Amino acid sequence: MHAALSSLLQRPDAALTPQQFVEAVISQAPNALSPSQASGFGEAPVNIALSKYWGKRDAALNLPVNGSLSISLPGLGTQTSLALIEGAEDQIQLNGQTLTADAPFAQRLSRFLDYFRPPGYAYQVDTVNSVPTAAGLASSASGYAALVLALNDLYQWQLDKKSLSLLARFGSGSASRSLFDGFALWHCGTRQDGLDSYAEAIDENWPEFCVGLLKVDIGEKPVSSTAGMQQTVETCALYQAWPQKAEADMKTIHQAIVTRDFSQLGATAEHNALTMHATMIATWPPILYWQPESVAAMHKVWELRRQGIEVYFTMDAGPNLKLLFLEKQKPAILRAFEGMQVIQPFKA
Ligand code: PMV
Repeated sequence: MHAALSSLLQRPDAALTPQQFVEAVISQAPNALSPSQASGFGEAPVNIALSKYWGKRDAALNLPVNGSLSISLPGLGTQTSLALIEGAEDQIQLNGQTLTADAPFAQRLSRFLDYFRPPGYAYQVDTVNSVPTAAGLASSASGYAALVLALNDLYQWQLDKKSLSLLARFGSGSASRSLFDGFALWHCGTRQDGLDSYAEAIDENWPEFCVGLLKVDIGEKPVSSTAGMQQTVETCALYQAWPQKAEADMKTIHQAIVTRDFSQLGATAEHNALTMHATMIATWPPILYWQPESVAAMHKVWELRRQGIEVYFTMDAGPNLKLLFLEKQKPAILRAFEGMQVIQPFKA
């Protein structure tokens, strides 16, 4: 590591450029950008936030305003292979299709890979999602986590999970949590250089815990989460209340996981999601990811609760709902939401 960078890292208030941030993380590994093998592979699950990340305090380093807590969904995610090729242009395949260099997905990926590019080389990337891209099912989370794992494999960095989570966060905030199975907690951090903003696994098994994926619309979402967050932070007066609530919800949910208090977890997660959406709706122009079918599903969830069937929902930057319930309610819930895909994260 350069002496100037090492002295910067002694100061928690020092801001790093994105390139310095990447260098600070990968410089722990020997020969940071000399490939040790012909290709690298990485695979990571999607995750669903139970208490959400909404708002960046630093857009360049992808630093959040608040911490968040998630559950990963095994079997749903991204597999990515990576190789260095000679040339100027990356060759990117998504789900078997070669993308043109001007495709937004390819541009974002190449911009990220620029930070890890030996001079004169391009990358060949082959990435396969088992969830629809940009459908509110957080494929960018599994995508950037898998990409970082593929880089770690290609260069044989052997970075620890904390460093991998830092790099994945830099690609897409929620990707910091996709390095882990089960529950994960992404620390907001306080340092300006972002080196304390990473996720860790919460070491708790909850075999009865179920997540239902209620797909309302799997089309491309109209406003990206980055753009949505930025607009909310800039134009929503209600947003002031969010950071404190988000941190409190995260602690409540963490505690509910440890004590297996499903009612507390479900109620807090649903309220957290609705509060996040309330801040989006109260921006101008308004951002409303919901469709009529999303609202109908919410009413159905509330009706089931009135009938004594304990089920809650959460929603991200899209129209789809993710239902939270325990295994004993699965038959009743599947009767209400026929054909819905159910994942038991700890029973996969
Ligand atoms: O990581 P991003 O930039 O795709 O943002 C994710 C934002 C939400 O999915 C809405 C919330 C979250 O914590 O995952």
